[in-house]
Amino acid sequence: MECELVKINSIKDEALTKAADFIKNGGLVAFPTETVYGLGGDGLNSEAASKIYKAKGRPSDNPLILHINDQKMLHKIVNDVNSMAKKIMTAFCPGPITLILPKSDIVPSSVTGGLNTVAVRMPDNDIARELIRLSNTPIAAPSANISGRPSPTTAQAVYNDLHDRIDMILDGGACHFGVESTIVDCTEDVPIILRPGAITKEMLEELFPVVKIDRAIVGDNVVPKAPGMKYKHYAPKANMILFEGSSAKMAEAIASKMADYEKEGKKVGLVVSYEVAEKLQHENTAIYGNQEDLLTIASEIYECLRFFDDKDVDIILAEGTTDKGIGLAIMNRLHKASGFNSIFID
Ligand code: TXA
Ligand code: MG
Repeated sequence: MECELVKINSIKDEALTKAADFIKNGGLVAFPTETVYGLGGDGLNSEAASKIYKAKGRPSDNPLILHINDQKMLHKIVNDVNSMAKKIMTAFCPGPITLILPKSDIVPSSVTGGLNTVAVRMPDNDIARELIRLSNTPIAAPSANISGRPSPTTAQAVYNDLHDRIDMILDGGACHFGVESTIVDCTEDVPIILRPGAITKEMLEELFPVVKIDRAIVGDNVVPKAPGMKYKHYAPKANMILFEGSSAKMAEAIASKMADYEKEGKKVGLVVSYEVAEKLQHENTAIYGNQEDLLTIASEIYECLRFFDDKDVDIILAEGTTDKGIGLAIMNRLHKASGFNSIFID
């Protein structure tokens, strides 16, 4: 089965009605959001959920996020929208944030990996919102990649991973943020960030005196509360080493490691900022943006990780960034992409 890839220029496009029909009939449609592309299916239909797991090759204990269009859908799938959740939604929804709340009976346990909570998100993307509205059901949507691979931020990246496994891809251009939504557990007395994203800890701290971060994110060896965070993830095909620490010595440190590998006859790929790329002048370089503008890095990072997939490199050397603001999300993805294989520069 080869899927249809349709460029969407307006939410009036008839392809959206066709896509909604696929969803209503238990089919799978990939669609753009402001974070990454999602692989959507009817979130209240457990057969659609199992198709999603199968298409991605995803372990079934890793629950899905339900994407909603309005408050009515929220109240259908969540038992109690507590004051913490209300505060977060007023400030940041629609937007790149997912809330964990107690689920209602209507949500199949296959969608939540057997948990009694559900992940809910209202995306800030017109195509996504119109697709949910026309489908008239919450849409379960993990990132539209094969499990373990970098998340797709373009329709082409979705196509490369899933073209023979799903019904349709809606092409809405490149995603704005480029890293997945911030996940916040709203079931405890203080908000806990289970996955960092574009809504940062600093932003949540403007609303709440205390905001916790799941210890698994900062590298502690504990079981993460978001089941998906325990898997090796976001990984390019080649092995990757992450360089962390002093930016003054970054180019020098990468150059020296690169020389070592090249002496052994290995082909090296670089994932770095403009600043470092300029100093190194290496032919196999994917530039992710500018250290002064973390949003450029977030939006390019997954395309950079995918860049080397057809280039046959033996090893990728990647430049890290700060862990402030959205930098925490970028570093979290780079740590996982490298399997926590870091070199620290002082
Ligand atoms: O930006 C995003 O969130 C994208 C777009 C498509 O909306 N979606 C996305 O979905 O990143 P996915 O499936 O790749 O990641 C969902 C994460 C997983 O780590 C999963 O374990 C966690 O959310 N999750 C889902 N339900 C949960 C729950 N009830 N409790 C804790 N974690 C949950
Ligand atoms: Mg994912």
